[in-house]
Amino acid sequence: MFYMERDSLSILGEGECGYESAICPPVFLSSTFESGGNYSYSRCSNPTRSALERECAALEGGSFAFAFSSGLAAINSVFSLLKSGDRVIVSDDLYGGTYRLITELFSNYGIEFVFADLCSQSEAERAISNGAAMVFAESPTNPMMKIADIAFLASLCKQKGALLAVDNTFLSPYFQNPLALGADIAVHSATKFISGHHDSVAGVAVTDSEAIASRLSLISKTLGNALSPFDSWLVLRGIRTLPLRMEKHQRNAFAAAELLKSSSEVESVIFPGLCEHSGHELCKRQARGFGGVVSFTVKSTETAKRILRGGKIIKFAESLGGFRSLITYPMTQTHYSIPKEMRERIGITDRLFRLSVGLENEKDIICDLERMLGT
Ligand SMILES: Cc1ncc(COP(=O)(O)O)c(C=O)c1O
Repeated sequence: MFYMERDSLSILGEGECGYESAICPPVFLSSTFESGGNYSYSRCSNPTRSALERECAALEGGSFAFAFSSGLAAINSVFSLLKSGDRVIVSDDLYGGTYRLITELFSNYGIEFVFADLCSQSEAERAISNGAAMVFAESPTNPMMKIADIAFLASLCKQKGALLAVDNTFLSPYFQNPLALGADIAVHSATKFISGHHDSVAGVAVTDSEAIASRLSLISKTLGNALSPFDSWLVLRGIRTLPLRMEKHQRNAFAAAELLKSSSEVESVIFPGLCEHSGHELCKRQARGFGGVVSFTVKSTETAKRILRGGKIIKFAESLGGFRSLITYPMTQTHYSIPKEMRERIGITDRLFRLSVGLENEKDIICDLERMLGT
């Protein structure tokens, strides 16, 4: 299995930073270190964070990883590679917080952001043909679960000398590795599948380029947005069960998608694992799985209201990728910052839901969904 093939003995306590032969490495809650060793000050680097970064680099197949205080801090750091005058092409269907980061902050710094459907080859080609310093894509996108052809985007970027950064949050490194498909940077909200337990907020950026890594290292210590040692320890703990969790998330997601498909209250089900999904074949080619998130639209606002009351197991809350099934209403939650007109063009309406399928018993999830749909 993919996870077992890689060298996982890099974890702190199993390698050069062993501590009393502990099987589970300790948390280094030290802000500073005596001069002369490998570490000096924890804003710059910390042994527990380094252990997590080694794990993330190995999982994504990159040489360098950086752990940040949130997914948005990781994306902020990736955009901090840019300079005034740069042109950046971004997915038009992306997490609302990333949209807010672009429109409320980075576009004030003389950087031009162009929103394009990067899942359409012709539109991506048209947008990138006018030149770009960076292309930033989500795949699958949040919340419409569209699939971008990462290798195709990477080849367009190479022709134009642009960097390609891919937000890989939805599939996690267990199912997809953007660097292997030609991307320069893979970025994650590690709050989601990577940590998986709804107990930490974290982000990760991974690259194979020494030049990018050297800038990200400078950006992280300069902005002071690196992940705390304790959160690094929690995320590391989550990673140890990533393969088991991802397989179960996916199994439950297939069951939930089939139930939703069969419901008379549901208009459409958007899950790349379904053969009828427009990105199904592409996802099959470039990833090893389809993940655990299913978006769907219901036929009536009455059903929508009933779903918003939440279920017994499926809680109405933001976020995804944790052990608990969560139902999210993108229009008022994750994508609230996106102007209504753009939201509606993408498909984020008052009848769209995003279901992060958790690790509960499959039958319990199905029963709860049926109850919420009123069927
Ligand atoms: C695809 C994606 N990227 C980035 C983020 C931001 O991550 P965080 O909440 O850890 O800052 C999110 C959050 O939901 C997300 O869904």
